Amino acid sequence: MTTDNTVTVTLTDVPETMLWTLHNRASEAARPDGVLRDEMALSIYRSLDYDYARSFGKPNASHGVRSAVFDTEVRAFLDAHPRGVVVNLGEGLETQRFRVAGDEALWISVDLPEAMAMRERFITPDERHIHLPVSALDRAWFDAVPRDRPVYITAQGLLMYFKAEDVAALFRDMAARFPGAWFAFDHIPRWLSRKFGRGYRLTKHYTTPPGPWGINIDDLEPTLRDWVPDLAEVRRLPFRFPRGVMRWFVSVWAIAPYTWRHAYGLTRVRFGPRDA
Ligand SMILES: C[S@@+](CC[C@H](N)C(=O)[O-])C[C@H]1O[C@@H](n2cnc3c(N)ncnc32)[C@H](O)[C@@H]1O
Repeated sequence: MTTDNTVTVTLTDVPETMLWTLHNRASEAARPDGVLRDEMALSIYRSLDYDYARSFGKPNASHGVRSAVFDTEVRAFLDAHPRGVVVNLGEGLETQRFRVAGDEALWISVDLPEAMAMRERFITPDERHIHLPVSALDRAWFDAVPRDRPVYITAQGLLMYFKAEDVAALFRDMAARFPGAWFAFDHIPRWLSRKFGRGYRLTKHYTTPPGPWGINIDDLEPTLRDWVPDLAEVRRLPFRFPRGVMRWFVSVWAIAPYTWRHAYGLTRVRFGPRDA
């Protein structure tokens, strides 16, 4: 059913997960004490004819916190490199560029054609904001990235949906093509990947797609260095809930001797060596 001002949703599989992250991010942005402000996310959220709570349940701060961490990262990069290039892989309905990008930056958004079509119901690309309707695994997007500008690549809520060998090959190819670039991404632990094995039943009405790539935090750096030995930096980024019981649970989980290895995490690497 569609009312006059709403947009019908026909997304399925991994592209539908952009609504899950939008649900959590927009709900966080709607809170007076939320960790991010984003009127555009709220406007998109309200324009979609979709029963978010039915599919994804009660919203939580997780994806808002993740976006806020990546905002801080990308802002710092653009402060240091105002003419920098930001590549957002699997961007979905994320409105990060409106929160962080200045006039000189080039923003390249990469997502599958059906996902990009949904994005373009709300966001129009231009010469500083390029939309590429291709898979992140299709190296065609590499050619859209100018070779003479600093580059920051992000994948937020994407790599876990790929097979490990595809993540490894993409990582190696990015390192070879973008020396000195930064790459920040989030990752789920192996137990969670196993739980997502055939899809995880989030609510009675929604089962997530499988998330085949899981990696424990203590295996991450050795694995990345095995894939690309000359990495200039591997750094874990903070992920903390702002309030409620999850604030304590996630903080303790992330530092306790056994559980920290099995936590969800955010990581930034820098490929070596150009200027690194
Ligand atoms: C969980 S959503 C995250 C969206 C956005 N990054 C955010 O945080 O709101 C996963 C996104 O990955 C995209 N995606 C799935 N497979 C992809 C692929 N092979 N290449 C590029 N994007 C892909 C989906 O269409 C979707 O937009």
